[in-house]
Amino acid sequence: MSDQLELGIVSDIPLGTARQFEIDDMLIAVVHTAEGMYALEDRCSHADVALSEGEVEGCFLECWLHGSAFDVRTGVPTSPPAITPVKTFAIATNISDPNSPILLTKGTTK
Ligand code: FES
Repeated sequence: MSDQLELGIVSDIPLGTARQFEIDDMLIAVVHTAEGMYALEDRCSHADVALSEGEVEGCFLECWLHGSAFDVRTGVPTSPPAITPVKTFAIATNISDPNSPILLTKGTTK
């Protein structure tokens, strides 16, 4: 049995955007950056709002409520007020192919 879940294809999540998925009762934000696609817990560690509703700037996802920027590669906030990292998940895809499947590996990487 595979522990990977297909979330769609690359063209479903345009470059510079994030999209929310609910998987096993957890909200996960999948972010498309120029470096690749990344997945992290879609819940700001400061005040429990969806990070996927924020802005993508390079490899950072900025919380829309108070502005903490989370590094999507590590889940670590790089500016206050959030100080606690969020969980991250492994994504396998080929961002140079719009039809490439987006595969999420279940289980956190951090
Ligand atoms: S809720 Fe995200 S920084 Fe405050």
